[in-house]
Amino acid sequence: MEGRLLFLCAMVLCISITAMSVHCEYHKENPHHGHMKEKKTHLHFYLHDILSGKKPSAIMVAHTKTLIGINFATPFGTVYAIDDPLTEGPEPTSKVIGNAQGLYVSSAQDILSLVMYVDFAFTTGKYNGSSLSVFSRNPVMEGDREIAVVGGRGKFRMARGFAELKTTYFNTTNGDAIIEYKVTILHY
Ligand SMILES: *[C@@H]1O[C@H](CO)[C@@H](O)[C@H](O)[C@H]1NC(C)=O
Ligand SMILES: *[C@@H]1O[C@H](CO)[C@@H](O)[C@H](O)[C@H]1NC(C)=O
Repeated sequence: MEGRLLFLCAMVLCISITAMSVHCEYHKENPHHGHMKEKKTHLHFYLHDILSGKKPSAIMVAHTKTLIGINFATPFGTVYAIDDPLTEGPEPTSKVIGNAQGLYVSSAQDILSLVMYVDFAFTTGKYNGSSLSVFSRNPVMEGDREIAVVGGRGKFRMARGFAELKTTYFNTTNGDAIIEYKVTILHY
């Protein structure tokens, strides 16, 4: 009698474990992954980071109690929210092809340097609706510099790569800047 009960218990346990392994699976391997073709894409545009005027594209949203390094337009520890236009050419009147939205923080104590957490979205052409994710240090005072592209949406799914940056205009008084971006990415 006791033996049968034990057997029954074992059966119930077995069935519930089997049921669990069917219903609790939260992951799945894609057998077709190997057939996806990786592409390499180059993008070239200009970012307008405007702190001055009545309608700035970058606004300070947080800062420390006492501003350190106030000789910079963006003192250490300040955080900016941005919605910067991206254009084809360097002129402010050039055709807008997208926007860069997110945050950057003034992250260095002795020099002017930023860390960016920004999504670059495109609003025209082949990449309309697609965007690139940037999470990177940006040593803005260096003439030629590089930032990391860590992901993307839409046509830029699983993107990774880098952007080469060059400042084409910078006003040290008000912080307004125009930056040339040359992006190289691998994506699917
Ligand atoms: C970009 O995509 C949006 C949403 O699909 C659409 O409304 C808009 O007209 C498109 N713009 C261009 C220039 O193709
Ligand atoms: C830089 O900004 C200051 C303050 O807004 C302005 O007076 C000056 O004309 C600007 N300089 C240039 C070269 O645009």
